Amino acid sequence: MIRVHLRQTAVAVVLLAGCTALAAAQALTQQQIEHRIDALLRQMTPQEKVGQLVQYNGDTPEAATQAKAGQVGSLLNVYGADRINELQRAAEQSRLKIPLIFGYDVIHGYRTIFPVPLGGAASWDPQLIEQSERVAAKEATAAGVKWTFAPMVDIARDPRWGRIVEGAGEDPYLGSVVAAARVRGFQGNDMADPQSLVACAKHFVGYGAAEGGRDYNTADMSEQTLREIYLPPFHAAVKAGVGTLMSAFEDLNGVPTSGNPHTLTEILRKEWHFDGFVVSDYDSIHELVPHGFAADDEQAALEALTAGVEMDMADGVYAKWLPQLVKSGKLPMSVLDEAVRRVLRVKFRAGLFQHPYYTNAERERTEILTPQNREVARRLGAESLVLLKNQNDILPLPRSGKKIAVIGPLADDQANQLGSWVGRGQAADVITPLQGIEAKVPQGTVLHARGVDISSLDKQEISGATGAAPAPVGATGAAATQHEAGPATIEGAVRVAQQADAVVLFLGEPGGMSGEASSRAFLNLPGQQEQLLESIEATGKPVVLVLESGRPLDIRWAAEHVPAIVQAWYPGTEAGNAIADVLFGDVDPSGRLPLSWPRSVGQIPVYYDHKNTGRPSSNDRWHTGYLDESKEPLFPFGYGLSYSTFRYSNLRVLTPQITPAGMLRVSAEVQNTGRQTATEVVQFYIHERVGPTSRPVRELKGFERITLRPGENRTVEFSKSAQVLGSYDPQMHFVVPSGTYDVWVAPNAAAAGVTGTVQVAPK
Ligand code: BGC
Repeated sequence: MIRVHLRQTAVAVVLLAGCTALAAAQALTQQQIEHRIDALLRQMTPQEKVGQLVQYNGDTPEAATQAKAGQVGSLLNVYGADRINELQRAAEQSRLKIPLIFGYDVIHGYRTIFPVPLGGAASWDPQLIEQSERVAAKEATAAGVKWTFAPMVDIARDPRWGRIVEGAGEDPYLGSVVAAARVRGFQGNDMADPQSLVACAKHFVGYGAAEGGRDYNTADMSEQTLREIYLPPFHAAVKAGVGTLMSAFEDLNGVPTSGNPHTLTEILRKEWHFDGFVVSDYDSIHELVPHGFAADDEQAALEALTAGVEMDMADGVYAKWLPQLVKSGKLPMSVLDEAVRRVLRVKFRAGLFQHPYYTNAERERTEILTPQNREVARRLGAESLVLLKNQNDILPLPRSGKKIAVIGPLADDQANQLGSWVGRGQAADVITPLQGIEAKVPQGTVLHARGVDISSLDKQEISGATGAAPAPVGATGAAATQHEAGPATIEGAVRVAQQADAVVLFLGEPGGMSGEASSRAFLNLPGQQEQLLESIEATGKPVVLVLESGRPLDIRWAAEHVPAIVQAWYPGTEAGNAIADVLFGDVDPSGRLPLSWPRSVGQIPVYYDHKNTGRPSSNDRWHTGYLDESKEPLFPFGYGLSYSTFRYSNLRVLTPQITPAGMLRVSAEVQNTGRQTATEVVQFYIHERVGPTSRPVRELKGFERITLRPGENRTVEFSKSAQVLGSYDPQMHFVVPSGTYDVWVAPNAAAAGVTGTVQVAPK
C-alpha cells in the first residue's frame, strides 16, 4: 500500500485577523442521542454500518462517491473549508444522511505552530497549554477539521525513540495533568461547539516503551508498570472527557495493542467505562498479520473489532472483510452494532448531525494565524525554554553596547523552528532566532554565520559512528545582518565570533530527526556541530548555547565547557521572539525538564522514579551503577534555572496521621532570594518506605507555578487525597498501605528541598 503523507506540504490559506464563530449547536441529552442512534441502527444495512467504521486517507477522486454511498465514516488528511463542506454535502446525500468526521494530526498547532508537545510540557503550565490547544482547535475547525489525533500521551523514558518529542516526558503525574489540559483545550466545554475539536488520546498503550527506543518495537512490561506508569495519562484523558482514543502499533506483552482485549475491553471499556470510540493507528489492523497475531486480514479485522477497535484507519481491512464476517456469522451483529453506536455517539456529541457545516470560507479567512494566536505561541514558546546552566550570570544578555554573534545552522533557519509534525504550519510564517535577537537590539550590532549546515544530513553523518566529513573550505561567515553566500564553514564562523563580545550558538537536530520512525542509536549533535561548538568555545568569547531538539542530546562536553545552556526544543512559529524574550530577560526562564537528561546513551533508560535496589549506595564497588559512568542523569527531572534564586524552608505536614480515606496536606515556604521577579515551579514528591511492592525513590504528586517579587516569601500548600499514596499490590489491587511515607517540597526530583513524613493508619 502506498501511504500519502500530507503532513508538511504547503497550502495557501488567506489569513486575516478576526473571529466569527458560528452559533453552537443546541446540545442533545445523552438519552436523546441514544434514541437517535437506536433509530439509525434499525435502518442501517450491514454495509452502511461497516461504512461508519471506515476511515480513508487523503482527498481522493472517489471520496464524494463513497460518502454518498455511505461507504465511509471518516476521512483523514483532508482540510479546507470549501472542500470539507463539499464532501459533507455528499454525505448528506447518502440514504441516512450521516455526516462525516474529518480527522487530522493537529499535534502542536494547526497553522500557528506552538512548541513541540515535549516543549509545551516543559512549561509545567497546564492553563497555558490548554489555551494553546484552544487556539489550535479554533484554527483547525475553521479549516474544516473536526477531530485531532492528539494528544499523544505516551510516557517515554528513552530519548533514542524519536516520538519522545510528541509526549509530555517521563512522568505519569505530569503526563496526566498535561493530557487533561490538552483534552480540555481541544474540546472546550462542548465538543459540539463549532470551534471545538474532538480529541484522541494516543497511542493506547505502552507505545513509548519500545525496546531499544526503536519505533514500532515490542513493549514488554509488568502489569504493575502498565497500570502505574503508562495508563495514568490515558485515564486522565478519559476522565477529562476525551472523545476518542487511538490504539497503537506495538505488541504489548505478546498481544498487539490494536487487537488487545485486555487493554481495549477490560481496562478501557469495563474498568474506565469509556463510551467513545477507538480508531486504529495507520495500517495497524492489517499489521496484526506481520505481527504474527492474525493469519490474514480477515482474521485481523475480526480480532481488532472484537477487542474494541471501532474505526479502521486507512488500511481498508474493515471495509473489505467485515461484511463477509457478519454474513458468515463469525462476527456477531451485536459486536458490529456496538462499534457503530460508539462512532455515531461521538458524531452526535460533536454536533455533526445538527451542524455539519461548522465552518465556512469567512471563518477560514479570519481565524487562522491571527496576531492573538501568535501571541499565545510566543508565550508558550518562552515558557517552554529550560535554562540548564548560567555560569557567572552570563544571561540575560545586555541590550546595548555589545556586539552579539548569532551562530549556528539553526540560528536563521525557519522550517526547523517548527519541529517534527507541523500541521499546516509554514516556514515562511516563522520568526527565526536571529530575527528575534535583532528585534531586541535595534541599535546594536548583530553578526551572523551558520558555521555548518545540517539540512541535508544523511544517516552516516547523523550517527556520528563513522566520524564527521571534512570541513568544506573557502567561504567566510557573514557579519551584521547579512547572510553568508555559499557554503558555511567553521573557520568563517570562528572569524565572526572573534569580532563579537558574546556568542549565541544555535545547535541541535533538524526537526525531521524527531517524530515517527526517527529513532537514533547515538545522541550526539549531528554532523559537524560538535566541532563548531568546540571551535567557537576556543575563541574565549562568552558563549550561550541554545539547543533545539526534540529529545535530550549528549551534551557532556558542552555542560563542562560552555558557560550558559538553554534547551529550546522547537518553539514553533514565534520561535525567535520567544527565545529572545528569555535571552534578554523580558521573560524569566521558568521551563523545567519533563524528563531526566541522560549523560550518555549507555545510561538509558534513566528516570527519576526508579527503585532503590538492594544496593543503592555508591560508596563501594558492589552497588548498582556503572564502572565507567555515573548513574545519575546530567540534569534531573523537574530541573531548570531562573534568573533569580529561591530558598525552600519550613515544611509542615499539616496532616501527620491520615487514613486512606483522608486528605494529605503539606505546606512549605518558598522565597525569592534573588534580585528580580521570577517564577518557580514548586514540586511535591512522595515515597512509601515499606510496602507490598518496592516503591520508587520519589514520585511527583503535585506542582505549582508561583511568581515572586525579590524577597517575597510564599507558603505553598499541597492538599491531595491520600489515594495519591497508593499503588498496585502483587495481586493488582490498588491499595494505600499503612506505614511511613516521606514527603518533599523541592525544586526538582534530585534536590533535597524540604522534607518530612506522614503516617498512614488503617481506617
Ligand atoms: C501515527 C499516528 C497518526 C497517524 C495519522 C500514524 O503513523 O502513528 O500518531 O495519528 O499516523 O497520521
